[in-house]
Amino acid sequence: MLRSVILAASRSTRVERLVATAPFSRDVVRRFVAGAKTDDALRATRELVDDGLAVTLDNLGEDTVTGEQANATRDEYLTLLRMLADAKLTPAAEVSVKLSALGQAFDEQLAYDNARAICAAAEAAGTTVTLDMEDHTTTDSTLDILAKLRKDHPSTGAVLQAYLRRTESDCRELASAGSRVRLCKGAYREPESVAYQSPREVDKSYVRCLNILMSGDGYPMLATHDPRLIAIGEDRARWFDRDPDRFEFQMLYGIRPEEQARLVGEGYTVRTYVPYGDDWYGYLMRRLAERPANLAFFARALASR
Ligand code: FDA
Repeated sequence: MLRSVILAASRSTRVERLVATAPFSRDVVRRFVAGAKTDDALRATRELVDDGLAVTLDNLGEDTVTGEQANATRDEYLTLLRMLADAKLTPAAEVSVKLSALGQAFDEQLAYDNARAICAAAEAAGTTVTLDMEDHTTTDSTLDILAKLRKDHPSTGAVLQAYLRRTESDCRELASAGSRVRLCKGAYREPESVAYQSPREVDKSYVRCLNILMSGDGYPMLATHDPRLIAIGEDRARWFDRDPDRFEFQMLYGIRPEEQARLVGEGYTVRTYVPYGDDWYGYLMRRLAERPANLAFFARALASR
């Protein structure tokens, strides 16, 4: 119920204005977002890489409505990739891209062209791109664009969301050699017709999908903070003889950093998803919807003012 209310608020421009101008927002944002500028992203990346983590960087922004905005997002990624290569932070750092930020909602060809330019720049910088997955109305389009991109850039990765009923079948499709798949639970408000609604059903689906990916020939990226699912991931890695260079764990910046360090200490590859930029509202609201304790953090920041 609370999750639905927050996810509904994540689409409201009125609530966005309220939250964005609230004095406490800065502290809350700082916990989950590396900063506003490319330099902030580089600084956070350097710190994480020095701690033995791999990184994927997300220039915040979604639901772009003009070609100018879409091209500006593309250009920011091109700059970021050049700076990462110059700072010798590749291949430890790669980038995550939302196709909606590249124009997917109004011009699929433009989104594809922009994504292709980013993939080419990533290849030149010696690293990879992963396409984030957004709400279910975009899944087919995103997977179609992924297939086209992979013809020229086979290392381009996909995200699959365990809450979608279709995802087991998508995992089977994508569990092939050279295919990088990030498996997450899913962060959007979705109808029952397409998505499991109860946490238990979502977790069971996650395990079924994890089994398909870990027993397949691709490169699984297990994106979760859930202790039970991480333990199952560790178990399947032993069972399917997957060394740390044949799969990885992934978590979000600011969430369970001590668990990220523990897994690194155990010898696993762990990648932190680092968002940066001004357009943090939708991202932050999805993080708040995931966990009541994050709401308490928000309230504490408010009370301490
Ligand atoms: P869940 O939210 O159920 O949490 C399970 C447990 O994890 C909690 O009970 C707690 O123990 C622990 N936990 C969670 N949050 C915590 C916190 N803040 N502090 C301490 N413990 C905490 N989604 C999407 O739809 N499209 C996408 O492209 C992506 N991309 C993506 C990349 C990466 C790298 C990650 C990690 C996640 C995504 N997501 C995503 C988000 C994903 O779908 C999901 O919403 C969040 O990861 C939360 O789900 P969990 O699996 O962590 O479990």
